Amino acid sequence: MEIDVLTLFPRIFEGPLEESILKRAQESGRAQIRVHNLRDYTHDKHRVVDDRPYGGGPGMLMKPEPIFEAVEKLQRPDSCVVLMTPQGTPFTQACAQEFAQKPHLIIICGHYEGVDERVREALVHEEISIGDYVLTNGALAAAVVVDAVVRLLPGVLGHEDSAADDSFASGLIEGPQYTRPPEFRGMGVPEVLLSGDHGAVAKWRAEQSWSRTKQRRPDLLK
Ligand code: ADE
Repeated sequence: MEIDVLTLFPRIFEGPLEESILKRAQESGRAQIRVHNLRDYTHDKHRVVDDRPYGGGPGMLMKPEPIFEAVEKLQRPDSCVVLMTPQGTPFTQACAQEFAQKPHLIIICGHYEGVDERVREALVHEEISIGDYVLTNGALAAAVVVDAVVRLLPGVLGHEDSAADDSFASGLIEGPQYTRPPEFRGMGVPEVLLSGDHGAVAKWRAEQSWSRTKQRRPDLLK
């Protein structure tokens, strides 16, 4: 899959791309991720990307021209253009799975008070929020989306089915997990996990997943 990210702060985005699974996904060619500085799409001496809102009010808005120029240069008939904004649809695992099917994402990172509305009207297919809080800009939010999407691409996670048991993949959150040693500072491991009885382990995990979801995220059971 190919992903182009448009941001005013490419360096914020670059850190997450250079570590671990995202790094390997790029090295293996499973994900091609390019980060573009929107200032490179300006043509004035001061490389201005923002301006005051018509009608007054606090803060600055991102100007439409650099965003239009960048998207029009990068987009193809199969591109999905995503705008990161706190006003967007909440990002979920289902949304990550949907994006992982797309051949090409263009992700626009908002900044300041937001973007000129004509960007939404003419360019954007999906507006996405990563949660009900406001970040200083969309680059961190875009990094979250890219991470959640790229790990779902075929072959990216070492163990082919490890994304299948993720929290949310089944609609529930995962239950507790243990590794060695079997006793640590007086704390043991549930007997069933040491029993070697795969059926009993599966049943125990399903029950734990259900009760943890009921306790912590009853909204998921509705
Ligand atoms: N930009 C600022 N806050 C954001 C959020 N919560 N989600 C997506 N983009 C954002």
